[in-house]
Amino acid sequence: MGRTFSPATPQFPHMLHGGDYNPEQWMDSPEILEEDIRLFREAHINCVSLGIFSWANLEPQKDVYRFEWMDKIIDKLYENGIYTVLATPSGARPQWLAQEYSEVLRVRPDGTRNLYGERHNHCYTSPVYRERVTKIDTALAKRYANHPGVILWHISNEFGGECHCELCQQAFRQWVQEKYGTLDALNHAWWSHFWSHTYTDWSQVHSPSPIGETSIHGLNLDWRRFVTHQTIDFMKTEIDAVKAVNPDIPVTTNMMTMYVYELNYFKFRDALDLISWDNYPEWHNPWGNEEVAKDCAMTHDMMRSIQKKPFLMMECTPSATNWQSVSKLKKPGMHELSVIQAIAHGADSGQYFQLRQSRGSCEKFHSAVISHTGTENTRTFQEVAQTGTDLEKLSDRVYGSDSPAQVAIIFDTENKWALDCCRGPRNAGLDYFGNIRKNYSYFWKNGITTDIVDSEFDFSGYKLVIAPMLYLFRAGIQDKLRRFVEQGGTLVTTCFTGVVNETDLCFLGEATEEKLSNVLGLWVEETDSLYDCESNHTTWNNKRYRLTELCEICHPTTCEVLSVYEEDFYAGAPVLTKNRFGKGTAYHLCATADEEFFRDFYEKLASQLQLERALETEVPKGVSLTWRESEREKLIFVQNFEGDAAALELDQPYTDMLTGETYDKNLTVDGYSFAVITPAGCI
Ligand code: GLA
Ligand code: ZN
Repeated sequence: MGRTFSPATPQFPHMLHGGDYNPEQWMDSPEILEEDIRLFREAHINCVSLGIFSWANLEPQKDVYRFEWMDKIIDKLYENGIYTVLATPSGARPQWLAQEYSEVLRVRPDGTRNLYGERHNHCYTSPVYRERVTKIDTALAKRYANHPGVILWHISNEFGGECHCELCQQAFRQWVQEKYGTLDALNHAWWSHFWSHTYTDWSQVHSPSPIGETSIHGLNLDWRRFVTHQTIDFMKTEIDAVKAVNPDIPVTTNMMTMYVYELNYFKFRDALDLISWDNYPEWHNPWGNEEVAKDCAMTHDMMRSIQKKPFLMMECTPSATNWQSVSKLKKPGMHELSVIQAIAHGADSGQYFQLRQSRGSCEKFHSAVISHTGTENTRTFQEVAQTGTDLEKLSDRVYGSDSPAQVAIIFDTENKWALDCCRGPRNAGLDYFGNIRKNYSYFWKNGITTDIVDSEFDFSGYKLVIAPMLYLFRAGIQDKLRRFVEQGGTLVTTCFTGVVNETDLCFLGEATEEKLSNVLGLWVEETDSLYDCESNHTTWNNKRYRLTELCEICHPTTCEVLSVYEEDFYAGAPVLTKNRFGKGTAYHLCATADEEFFRDFYEKLASQLQLERALETEVPKGVSLTWRESEREKLIFVQNFEGDAAALELDQPYTDMLTGETYDKNLTVDGYSFAVITPAGCI
């Protein structure tokens, strides 16, 4: 059986159910604040995230602090059994701060400084901003870090973006100088003799800009690395401030989905006690819920993998957002299913944005647990309350349990940055995420737990490692993958893998260790790009598959050729290859294939490698299986993301953890619903 992790929030070691609470909007309506507490209890809310955007109320004027209102709220919540996740307020500044110190406002890549407004757009380098943030964080910590109701620090809110001001330029120059040491090393790493862009003085180093330099790919990459570095450095000043008062309260920060933002979240691993993220899938869109559920599952898996332990889902919407192109309601059942999906993938919470809907300003139409009606008589409220009731039932057995994985897919943020700025071979799109998704699909659907890791991980515990389109090799990945295969692991790589080094310089030579040629048993000579309307084909295992986008033409050295191209001048050249290396095996797919190929290929591989599944059964359309494992039992989550009921055959009797019912041979799960089951006899 699996491990049980020590509690994420030791002062309240239970599944968290709560969300963002912004009472500063209702300071003139004490009756509303009273009513909130009653409604929270009705909704089985056990925690609130407080103070996220409270700076102007906490420090209405420079160095004038007002904590009395917050004292009352934290005390009152605690008396009612509701715990506080306390935020540092640095996500949005008060007006007075920007008015007095314009350096706190962010500068855009074209050099223009923002006016005051919005949020999340301050300079992370500004000494003034850091000083003011440290002051307010320290004051908050002194007041609340020893309060029995405060269980977790929520550092800032959704770190993101970048600043190009002169302070940031100086910090970037210093970072670059520390990294490279000499201008010669810099010019080599960035290949800046090309187009005569040679750096002759450190002061010439400047961030990429649409009105300046974008052609040096090593610079582009290093700038993104610096932005992550500087964001973490800023976050650490906040963490230091609150930990100085009480080191025992854990810290987290709420991350966003892996698709949109430009930070390398894996680098946050060591600075935080636990990982949390904000999850806003577009359920019920015309492309179908299964696709949405898959993407969402993949991000949950990545968040769990960052520290390889349970995480929190810090935000999701109780029903509709107000910012998606079409902000749809969640259909009945979808809300709880979405929370259960997070838990199935390793979350120990279901938290929302937000608890009470705001009355004005730009988020007034974002759904909330308590809507503008101000009552419990809404479908959304009742579904939230039901979710809270079920989480209470599951908590003792699920909280802190493990998600052991035998498969890892490498998703490397730095590789994404490099592909984003890579000019050629196919500027119509290389679709890195699409490639990751196609590789992930089979495992997600079939209940095979998959970690989403980056190049800095240790792969030794896995049976199968997949590196889709890993164009940029860094962090000694060649050695790690070589050792992994040598020692018996199975590796799958796909086209456009192992092309450049850490600073985006192409590897030279035919077959080289640097490109993993010996592990794959081949070397690549040319790569053809296909228009969207073009395709090639290959036949493997008696089935014909379509190939698109990129087609590598390679030379086998020691590999076995499992399938070949059927068209164009490279007909007959290898597509799928297999190479025995040491005690293991490496497969390489030379072209971009459709998801169908990956499903069939991994089905075969999963059975050869005897990968553990949640359940041995045929999985119906719309359904996904996932499992967690504690010291006592295997907890299986059957999730139905489509509107029609789905039936599964069972390999043995199972007991439903919520209803106590036992299913002998079959289980039917309603549309937008789920079941959490465990082998009968475990209860
Ligand atoms: C983000 C923010 C919240 C809120 C929600 C709306 O996740 O952290 O403050 O704006 O989006 O969906
Ligand atoms: Zn700046």
